Amino acid sequence: MTTPLVVTTSGETTGTARHYLMCRPEFFAVSYAINPWMDPAKGADTATAVRQWEALREAYESLGHTVSLIDPVEGLPDMVFAANGALVVDGRVYGARFTHAERTAEGPAYLKWFADRGFETLEPTFVNEGEGDYLTLDEMILAGTGFRTDVAAHMEAQEFLGRPVVTLRLVDPRFYHLDTALFPLGGTNVAYYPEAFSPGSLRVLQRLFPDAVVATAADAEVLGLNAVSDGRHVVVNAEATGLTLELERRGYDVVPVDLSELRKAGGGPKCCTLEIRA
Ligand code: ARG
Repeated sequence: MTTPLVVTTSGETTGTARHYLMCRPEFFAVSYAINPWMDPAKGADTATAVRQWEALREAYESLGHTVSLIDPVEGLPDMVFAANGALVVDGRVYGARFTHAERTAEGPAYLKWFADRGFETLEPTFVNEGEGDYLTLDEMILAGTGFRTDVAAHMEAQEFLGRPVVTLRLVDPRFYHLDTALFPLGGTNVAYYPEAFSPGSLRVLQRLFPDAVVATAADAEVLGLNAVSDGRHVVVNAEATGLTLELERRGYDVVPVDLSELRKAGGGPKCCTLEIRA
């Protein structure tokens, strides 16, 4: 069980302390292109990425969350995107199996981190990119497919974790992972960018989440949907100004961060963050 983090004057708990796994971007670079955000000709600055990442980590700690670290591996420039390393629910770790050869070695590295610490792990049969494509709510796991994660992996995760998995099809290559187009606002609601989803998947979202925050193209294009919420606070890219206003209007505490250097690889705050649900 997660512990109460914030209690409102009415006594209602609105946020919970989380445990995150992160990977310092010491070897971060844009040296290949596996999504439309990446341009190896332009590259990226490692020192800037590290500084921005440190600020993200400090933001989590100042909110009362715990951050564990996995050692970065030289030659794996995208390993900073810890969300892709696994899916952890009820202390069970469903491993990742990457689409692209450039990231293949990250899967075993993350799985070993968990196995070494006594977690029950499953090496996956099917291609899936961890929390990049699986987002966990109280009653279900939302799962993306279309660019990276194989729909067969949705069933594999459901069988291993014993939680209902709802498949959603992504259709815009800029929003290649589910976590670039949608984030959970606590356990029962979400924010999302409608145009990233197929017509049928959009109808599923509208049916499941009639009260969702619906984001604009401007917010999506700065990776505003790649946000992390503990139920009360939302850590979000600072450039997502429309989304920020709407979240504040609904009573969330928005914590803006600048991850512009990591965005050159197609990542934001959520990509850097793997939640460990014990
Ligand atoms: N360059 C990485 C890739 O394309 C970025 C991954 C971002 N992670 C995420 N959870 N969306 O695989």
